[in-house]
Amino acid sequence: MFYPDEIIEEVRLHNDVIDVIGSYVHLQKKGSSHFGLCPFHNEKTPSFSVSKDKQMYYCFGCGAGGNVFSFIMAYENYSFVESVKYLAERAHIELPEPEVSEEVKKAINYKQRLYDANRLAARYYYSLLRKDVGKRALAYFQDRKLSADIMKQFGLGYATQFRDDLYKYLQKQGFLDQELLDCGLLLEDKKHKGEYYDRFFNRVMFPIFDVHGKVIAFGGRVLGEGQPKYLNSPETKLFDKSRNLYGLNIARKSRESFMIVVEGYMDVIALHQAGFDNAIASLGTAFTSGHGQLIKRYVDEVVIAFDSDGAGVNAALRSIPILKSAGLIVRVLNMETAKDPDEFIQNQGVEAFQTLLHNATASFMFEIKQLSKRFDLTDPEYRTRFSEEVAKKLLSIEGKIERDNYLEAIVSQYHMSKSGLYELLAKHGNNVGIAQRTPQTMSRDMGGNSHKKREEGTVLAQKQLLAILVSNYKIFNGVKDIIQPEYFTHDTLQKVAYIVFDIYKTKQEIEPADIMRRFTQIEDQKMIANIFSEELKVENQQQLEKLLNDTIRNIKGDYLEQKRMNVNDPSGLMTLIQEKKALLNFYLHLDEIDRRD
Ligand code: CTP
Ligand code: MN
Repeated sequence: MFYPDEIIEEVRLHNDVIDVIGSYVHLQKKGSSHFGLCPFHNEKTPSFSVSKDKQMYYCFGCGAGGNVFSFIMAYENYSFVESVKYLAERAHIELPEPEVSEEVKKAINYKQRLYDANRLAARYYYSLLRKDVGKRALAYFQDRKLSADIMKQFGLGYATQFRDDLYKYLQKQGFLDQELLDCGLLLEDKKHKGEYYDRFFNRVMFPIFDVHGKVIAFGGRVLGEGQPKYLNSPETKLFDKSRNLYGLNIARKSRESFMIVVEGYMDVIALHQAGFDNAIASLGTAFTSGHGQLIKRYVDEVVIAFDSDGAGVNAALRSIPILKSAGLIVRVLNMETAKDPDEFIQNQGVEAFQTLLHNATASFMFEIKQLSKRFDLTDPEYRTRFSEEVAKKLLSIEGKIERDNYLEAIVSQYHMSKSGLYELLAKHGNNVGIAQRTPQTMSRDMGGNSHKKREEGTVLAQKQLLAILVSNYKIFNGVKDIIQPEYFTHDTLQKVAYIVFDIYKTKQEIEPADIMRRFTQIEDQKMIANIFSEELKVENQQQLEKLLNDTIRNIKGDYLEQKRMNVNDPSGLMTLIQEKKALLNFYLHLDEIDRRD
């Protein structure tokens, strides 16, 4: 552990979950809990609950859950230690110098070294752009109409044509080869092992920042023609491409309520220079759901402004469902007269771009338009096929009103028969079932082979039993002789079980916080929040009794079965058989334990 337990507990006590989460999510009190729209998945009706008594949150929709620390970790993308620091500051609590194990200290220091190397590299490239050696590079940027201010804001730089320039510089600053390899700045010579050279040379340099403004990677462009045009840092301990976006460190602070997503570094920079401080780009990769969620933290809407060529259109078609599944409204900008936003602004100016933004089409209509290009609409046969495809696509829209609106728009734009289209809708609606399942639930349902299902069943039983035990000392007391923590085979659940057994030695009540504070991983906390929310699902004593006995039979049965496979001495086998018999005869009546005292 990084900080002493008492300090962490103090920080937690001074940060009420309702206050903290309430500053991110609009919460409304309902009964003993507060409810709001879950920030971790896309939903229209609130299933995200926060409990003041339990000091935890739990989403009945996606299962996200935990305490105030895990919320900050998940929301702000912080480590546990960072979340403690953040909340301590919020409550004006001064943290002591951290108590760290040597191992942890090493890992943290190492990461810090990589950040330092990147920062120094960025500064070095930056300074070279302004020196004599950087003349040609500076001229290149000026030629592309970048102002000195914008170059500064984006920290643009230059890597000279000497292949060991940065290497030598960072060596002088005390960096080791391994460190420079690990932050992606060095490459090993393939022919001469143990010899290294700069990954980037003779390129103009674009430092890549994370949302907190730290340099985590670079992109480098050749001056003029040459291959590859852009070279990017590989993924490293600091750089996860699917969790970072170019320009987001600035765009997240924009006052606009949407973001403009473009393909290239230069497009981002040109847009920012033109006053669109909400432009971002993915980093030489396709958009991922991680990107979608990242954007959704800041805005609800994006406008896609990719290159106007075929590749750009295809990239847009691929990105739309991904961005939409993060809950974003997606529009697409139509920029037929120029290759990309950078060029468009250069040629037609800022106002013209503003008009394009204003006229950006809903992504659905963009998809229909691209679909229409695949059919010759003057041919009746193809027209029919097109209508069929349109009907299918319309069926993917869940809300009836929204579907009708699009239907109207398509009918008028493509001169189609409204009643005909409705007929097709009815026909296909019967075939596929109007309420199509989302891809997410589909993969969850279909992915489970029987082995996996069984495993999930065991884990569920373990969770349910723990849920019963944590909330009821009497029941615990009634079963503690036939159930042991080691029977819980799931790693986290076993740890929880040991803690529960331990707490019950001295107390007769368990608070979620008491368990949760011993875990620092989001996944663990989620599981624990899930356990504590499990009790809400049982409706009456009868159900509870059945669940209790079923889960005990299931868990202990599995445990004994596992053991049987590993036991080969006769006496061990005898004990096992006896234990199995005892389990078969075991049944705990809840009214019995009530009478016991
Ligand atoms: N890209 C890349 N590697 C390449 C080419 C492109 O990583 N070999 C990425 C870069 O992030 C680049 C983006 O894809 O910014 C868009 O590529 P492209 O349209 O070719 O570049 P532009 O941004 O138009 O570049 P420029 O205007 O500098 O020619
Ligand atoms: Mn370009």
